[in-house]
Amino acid sequence: MPTLLVTTREGTQTVLDGEAGLSVMEIIRDNGVGELLALCGGCCSCATCHVYVDAAFADVVRAMSEDENDLLDGSSQRTDRSRLSCQLPFGDGLAGLAVTIAPEG
Ligand code: FES
Repeated sequence: MPTLLVTTREGTQTVLDGEAGLSVMEIIRDNGVGELLALCGGCCSCATCHVYVDAAFADVVRAMSEDENDLLDGSSQRTDRSRLSCQLPFGDGLAGLAVTIAPEG
C-alpha cells in the first residue's frame, strides 16, 4: 500500500497507509489527524483541508482547478505549495507523498 507522510502544525510526522481511490484529505482525516478539519467533507468549499505539498511532488499531483485556486486565494496562509487536500486523489503515483498541514487562516 502506498504511504503518505503527514507533518502536523507542531511538526509531528506520521506515515499513513494511503488507500488508492481516497483523497489525501480522507486519508489524513480517517487516520485521526484532528487538526485537518475538512469541514465541507470534500466539496471544495471550506479550505479547512489546506496543506503544503512537498516541492518534490509539485509536478506529480493533479493540476489545480479554478475553484480550488479561488478558494485558496481567500487564505492568508497561501504559498506556492498550497493545495486543498480534498482535491488530491491518492494512488500509486503519489506513493511517498509528503504534505504539511497549513496554519489556520
Ligand atoms: S474539505 Fe472543504 S475544501 Fe477540502
